[in-house]
Formats: sequence, C-alpha cells, structure tokens
Amino acid sequence: MAVQPSKDILRDQFVGKTLNDVVTPQVVLDLAKVEANCNLMLEAAERLQLSWRAHIKTHKTEELTRLQVGDKSSSPVNLIVSTIIEAEKLIPLLKEYQQNGRKVNVLYSFPLYQSCIPRLAAVSAALGAGALSVMVDHVDQVPYLSTLTTSGGHPPLVFLKVDVGGHRAGVIPDTPACSALISALLASETAGTSILLGVYSHAGHSYASRKDWEAMNYLSQEFEGLRRVAEQVKEKRAPGRDPLVLSVGATPTATTIQHPDLVETNGVTTNGTATNGTPATNGTSHPNILTPVPTTHLKSLLKSLKTSNFTLEVHAGVYPTLDIQQLCAHARDSASLNASYIGITVLAEICSLYPSRSPNSSTEALVNAGCIAIGREPVADLGAVKGESYVGWGVLMPWGELSGLPAPGREFPTKHEGWEVASLSQEHGILRWAGKAEDEVALRVGQRVRVWPNHSCITGAAHAYYLVVDSRNQGREDEIVDVWVRWNGW
Ligand SMILES: Cc1ncc(COP(=O)(O)O)c(C=O)c1O
Repeated sequence: MAVQPSKDILRDQFVGKTLNDVVTPQVVLDLAKVEANCNLMLEAAERLQLSWRAHIKTHKTEELTRLQVGDKSSSPVNLIVSTIIEAEKLIPLLKEYQQNGRKVNVLYSFPLYQSCIPRLAAVSAALGAGALSVMVDHVDQVPYLSTLTTSGGHPPLVFLKVDVGGHRAGVIPDTPACSALISALLASETAGTSILLGVYSHAGHSYASRKDWEAMNYLSQEFEGLRRVAEQVKEKRAPGRDPLVLSVGATPTATTIQHPDLVETNGVTTNGTATNGTPATNGTSHPNILTPVPTTHLKSLLKSLKTSNFTLEVHAGVYPTLDIQQLCAHARDSASLNASYIGITVLAEICSLYPSRSPNSSTEALVNAGCIAIGREPVADLGAVKGESYVGWGVLMPWGELSGLPAPGREFPTKHEGWEVASLSQEHGILRWAGKAEDEVALRVGQRVRVWPNHSCITGAAHAYYLVVDSRNQGREDEIVDVWVRWNGW
C-alpha cells in the first residue's frame, strides 16, 4: 500500500488526454473547485481571526496540501494527518515552508499508541522543536510522551482530545477520566516531557444535520464543550504558559464560519447585505432552512472566548472536495453549497443495460465502478418519511452527453432524482433512475459517466492517484492537466 507510482510517469501517460481517452475507473479532481473551496475556508478563518488547521486525510497529496494552507507567507502552516505515512511524506514540503519563514506544525490525530512512537519521534527530529503535535485521550497514553523524547524526538505539543458527542474518540468532559487526564498532562508539562497545546474536538455527529446552517449549532457546542475542559485545565495549570488552543471542526461545523453575517462592520455584512440573522438564501419558510441562523450566538461566543484568552482554531478535512454526504448535511445554504461545489468524481463506463429490471420497472445500468472504486459509505436516511430520502451510493453528475441530468437540489436528500448508484458489489455498480419514470434520461452502452461519491475520503483510499482537470479551461474542461499521487498506506 505504501508503494507509490511515479508522478512523472503518470503525467507522461495522462496529461493532455481527456477523460474520454483514459481507462476507467479513475478518480478525478477538478482543480477549479478544490481550489475555490480551499480559498473560501482560508478567507473565512482570516475574516474571523481564527487560526486554521487543515486535515489532509481526504486527499493525502502534496498538491492539495499546498492549496489548503495557501501561499500567505506570514501565516503558519498547521496540518493534521490521520496516518504516520502522511506525516513522513509531508516532511520535504514542511521543510520548504520552514525555509520560507513559515512556522509549521503537524498533528497526528489518532490517540497515541506504542508502535507509532519511533516513527513520530523521527518526524519530530526531522522538523525540529514545536513542529509535532499529538493527541491524547487517556491517562495510560501519557507515558508515551516522554518515550517520544527518549526515542529521539522533541517534547511534543499535546492536544487533549474531547468527546463532544460523536462518541468515536475523546475523553468525556466533567468525568473522573477527564480530571485524571488533565492532571497527568500538567504533570508531564511540568516535567518537561510535553507542552499542552490545548483541547481538540471533531464533531463527526454534525454530519446528521439536515437544515441549512444547522451545523453552526454543533460548532457552538464544540466551542462550549472545549471551553469547559480548558477552564478546568487553567485552574490547575502553572501560570506563565501560552494561551490554550480550542481546536474545533468537522467540515459541516467548520464551513459554517463562511456565513456572511459572522463579520460585520456598522451593521453591514461582508457581502454588503444588512445584518438581520437571516440566511443568504431567498425566502426563509423552506423546510430545509433553520431560522433564525444562530449567528448571533456564535458571534458573542467567539467574542467571549477570545476575551477569556483562548486561541481559537478551526480544522476540517473533506471541505476541498466535498461530496454527497456534505450536500446532505446542508452546512451552508444552497447558494453557497450545492452540487456545483463538489470537486471529486469517479469516472466510469456504462457496460450494460437492463430494461425494466428496477422495482419500478425502469432501466438499470451496469457501471465498471463498484465499492472498491466508489466506496460504500452510507448517507443516513433521517427524513420524516422513511425510505423517501436518498440512500444511494453515489449520484451521476450532469456531464458530457448527459449534461441535462438533474443534480441534487435545495431539498436534497429528501427530494432526489436522476441516475443514482443503487447497489454495489466489488467491481460492479448498478445505476437506477430516481424520480418519475417518464423523466428517465436514456443511457447507452459505452457511454462515459462521472459519479459524485458519498464520501470522498473513502473513495480516494481505493486509488493510487487523482487525475486532475480544470473546469476553468473553457472548451477543454475534460482535459487532464496534472496527476496527483496519494500517500496511501500506513
Ligand atoms: C480527528 C479528526 N479531526 C478532523 C477531521 C476532519 O473532519 P471532516 O473530514 O469532516 O472535515 C477528521 C475527519 O475524520 C478527524 O478524524
């Protein structure tokens, strides 16, 4: 898995060809879209004066990491990795940033375990003091902090991982386990074997939001949960240390900081409209819209946290590519988050057609992309009427001969139509038409299609590289402009 193909050989093979010329299946990124999504986050964090930390787990590439941190020479390069190999592969890029005067820090975002220590120590040694952060959520992990140093690393910066409701990893606030962990980390800091950077949450449960901007509530809850733990740390901590960082985010919560009403000057938002707490969509009575948007609460929360001398940091990972799960979460309104923002697709071919085979007697189609090309990541059916919402494994993008296909709209996932991946086996994907039978758009054997996957992180994992197109190239939107090699493996 850790063996990587050569970018130069892949570029020779693919650059200049179009998506109609290459073997399938392939995973494709649209540079125009991923770059725009990265810039939206960088601009929002800067507007709100929040620190920014980019997770690279979705794409695991040097090229997209560069877009996530931007090229502003004065801003620090704060990154998160989900595997050690990502940290190792980042080293040359991080050294480049250091040479250019940017402060770097990479966080390994899995609670520490014994076998990761030697490799993390090597990463720390290569990057210098203060460049490695680690995550801890149990007292029994604390001894690994000194092992990191005795294994050749520098004393690491540490995030105490807090469970804010997702129940995946993290210590639960206000429990004996949390108090014990705080004490152990402060003892480690006093002993000089680590430096407590702050507290960290990942609001994975925010993926279950289904109304525009609803994830902003989860963002406030993340900050509030972390504040409780950080106040307890402050009470016990020796004076004179750097302010604690409260680091929050998952793509739904983090991207809500893009709401224009969060920044105002004299009652006017940054997009020039009056600030009245309403969403930037037309009309407010829609079932998918949360009213009022909780911007007022978040604004005063951010203000009070800054006054309490916390450093506020936002992190996210899947926001550059987005995917069907993110459309379902409605973290922004449909003007600022819709299918046209998705930067990833799986290129496949229609290999067979089965007229009248589907339960509603419409056609089914076979594509050469099954679960190992697309991923089998569900979208939870949280609709009021069970079975009504989208529960497919991907949606066909309007593209090429099929540019007239419907795309997920404002009421997605409750209302959905078009060609969807209805079932998957290893290499086989079965497309089924959702919507009225009379609206079915005919497919033909041999046709190329692009599938928006449910969850980009899992889709990418099955592929060694991305083919990169740039939809800004008018008339050449399908031309491959680059190939980005992924850092797969562990
Ligand atoms: C620890 C941690 N932090 C942050 C993120 C980023 O979340 P998202 O992919 O929703 O942006 C993830 C993703 O799984 C994560 O595991």
